[in-house]
Amino acid sequence: MITLALAKGRIFEETLPLLAAAGIVPAEDPETSRKLILGTNRAGLRLILVRAADVPTYVQYGAADLGVAGRDLLAEHGGQGLYQPLDLGIAKCRMVVAVPEDFDYAAAVKRGARLRVATKYIGTAREHFAAKGMHVDLIKLYGSMELAPLVGLADAIVDLVDTGGTLKANRLKAVEDIMPVSSRLVVNPASLKLKREALAPLIEALRKASHG
Ligand code: ATP
Ligand code: PRP
Repeated sequence: MITLALAKGRIFEETLPLLAAAGIVPAEDPETSRKLILGTNRAGLRLILVRAADVPTYVQYGAADLGVAGRDLLAEHGGQGLYQPLDLGIAKCRMVVAVPEDFDYAAAVKRGARLRVATKYIGTAREHFAAKGMHVDLIKLYGSMELAPLVGLADAIVDLVDTGGTLKANRLKAVEDIMPVSSRLVVNPASLKLKREALAPLIEALRKASHG
């Protein structure tokens, strides 16, 4: 049995066409079913539904043989114990530093201000600001980062931006790019050895599907 870990929502929806191109169709729709393990039209392949941030953990420990995870969450996880054979080119966005529209970030950096930064990406943010030689106080959040500067919790945020609509709606602006983000296929290295016969063709089919 091969187990593929996916997160409900964007990752599931954007992986679905790639699976379809590889001839794989889930037996149920996760938006209507409450099940966390879904069968597929292939007897030897099942899907498990986990939180997006938990996909690397399930694959690292071999509870899933493979999974789909955003580069943002992989960077935060560290990627240890994961083979990353494929950038699927889905769920594309950017990780940025953002501040209120009227905040002069460049001036604050120049005078060596100690900024408070709210984010769910503590590890990535720490590395980013350390590399710039900036001292920051990091505040861990689990979502809705855009709110933090509006209510005085933080001076800046590290968050994902796609269209820029959320930043604009909250009168924020991106001031620094941290990394381009897309989702990758992650594979448990032991699974790849033990189940190569089943996994290699699946990875190949997903490679073809994702590279059009
Ligand atoms: P949870 O709902 O468990 O808190 P989440 O909010 O991180 O998780 P999603 O919003 O589905 O889950 O995001 C999953 C992944 O999709 C992210 O890790 C990121 O790689 C990517 N992503 C997030 N927001 C966007 C966006 N606006 N546009 C494109 N890709 C995005
Ligand atoms: C993501 C991200 C930003 C937003 C950016 O949130 O955390 O808030 O998308 O996209 P935009 O630049 O196109 O507005 P998402 O919509 O996934 O909300 P959620 O994480 O709360 O589910």
